[in-house]
Amino acid sequence: MEESRKKSRMVSHEEMERQREYTAWIRTENERYFTENGCRPRAFVLTLGCQQNEADSEKLAGMAMAMGYEMTQTPEEARLIMVNTCAIREHAEQRALSLVGQYKHLKAKNPELVIVICGCMVVQEHRINDIKFKYPYVDILFGTSSIHRFPELLCEKLRRGRRILRSDETEYLVAEGIPVHRESGFRAWVSVMYGCNNFCSYCIVPYVRGRERSRKKEEIVAEVRKLVAEGYRDITLLGQNVNSYGKDGGEEYDFADLLSELDEIEGDYWLHFMTSHPKDASRKLIDVMASSKHIARHFHLPMQSGSDRVLKAMNRRYDFEKYIGIVDYIREKMPDAVITSDIIVGFPEETEEDFEATLNALRRAKFDMIYSFLYSPRKGTPAAQMEGQIPAEEKSRRFDRLLAVQNEISLASNKPLEGKTLRVLCDGISKNNASFYSGRCEGGKIVFFEGEPSDTGKFLNVGIERGDTFALYGTVKR
Ligand code: 5AD
Ligand code: SF4
Repeated sequence: MEESRKKSRMVSHEEMERQREYTAWIRTENERYFTENGCRPRAFVLTLGCQQNEADSEKLAGMAMAMGYEMTQTPEEARLIMVNTCAIREHAEQRALSLVGQYKHLKAKNPELVIVICGCMVVQEHRINDIKFKYPYVDILFGTSSIHRFPELLCEKLRRGRRILRSDETEYLVAEGIPVHRESGFRAWVSVMYGCNNFCSYCIVPYVRGRERSRKKEEIVAEVRKLVAEGYRDITLLGQNVNSYGKDGGEEYDFADLLSELDEIEGDYWLHFMTSHPKDASRKLIDVMASSKHIARHFHLPMQSGSDRVLKAMNRRYDFEKYIGIVDYIREKMPDAVITSDIIVGFPEETEEDFEATLNALRRAKFDMIYSFLYSPRKGTPAAQMEGQIPAEEKSRRFDRLLAVQNEISLASNKPLEGKTLRVLCDGISKNNASFYSGRCEGGKIVFFEGEPSDTGKFLNVGIERGDTFALYGTVKR
């Protein structure tokens, strides 16, 4: 077994066994707490950022529960607080710092509280220094490469009482066998690979999540098979660029092959995946999707800009023509596919003409929905050094213009769904409007309807009565 592991990229069995020993030690301590206090010590995890971080937080919670903690939604009652940070934009970092700032008084009230900060933000040297000097009540800091060593770090803190601020390893590995506590009983994340090699000039991810490394297909297939058997209905395969899956292992087996193999698993479920980089979204992948039973007809394909000049400066390695060729091929093979995208507004030296090229690209591509972002300079990335940074007000003006164009397109993509019946996975009572239930269709569009408690986690057929810009409204066909 050990032989078949790609030793260079995997955390060893021995290392994982060591972590289980630390876990057991803390569990014994927490059992004692339980005996003395009549309740389990509680742990709270706060997650900022992307789905990969959500998945990592489910591991943090899984490890905490294995160590004898009970999860809580209330930081005030926790003995262990974990903040899983994001670095993608300045706003996310400021939020993390402000939240950590709010926990200062909890520590003052309860000196036994352990505060942990981890994730992408604290891989950066200047943020480690911020935590070290400005947030002395943070007990443990570790980066994305050390998540599997959380039990060891917590154990060291509890035994010796000293602060642990751990810089990231230079080598980023794949750790298998970390316990996971999934938030939902019907939607699940499954990482297929970690890291990114692309170095888009604006992006911090390659600096904070290391180089690409794929999980072994056997591990992924086994995990998905188990989830389907447990009744999970929507499984999202995660990777910074899933199209690179397998390339680091030098094998022929690629992401399309993985999808084909997963699609063979019997059951009633959807398989989603994200994110695809357009530079290597293959026809093979689209063909596999089109002929599959379980792969959702949803393609998230970040375009970032419609201007070839900006795409080049972003180091995206495709032009608009290549990009739109993929969109056209998806629509040719799957006319009802939902296509979504990411757009960055106000990249350095983006001219009015470049920006208009993006607006025209939106009109041509007709995305069902976009996630749009104001360009945020990230320390250490090439784009942050570029001349011609766009003033904040101009970025906001362009952002509003972008949304105005996209909102019309989104509305036009939702209107024709009126009168149709869609299969919807019900999430339960809507968080935004308690008089409705909400769910998502295969393409990820939000659907509101009148539901029943027993609908949660089930597939429903919903007759769509109204298609709006951001959501669909309908009635369940019972
Ligand atoms: N500023 C603004 N948006 C960014 N993204 C990544 N880096 C930045 C940045 N520095 C966006 C991209 C990416 C999405 C996840 O976040 O659009 O696709
Ligand atoms: Fe960032 Fe580009 Fe990698 Fe996506 S592909 S994580 S945008 S560097």
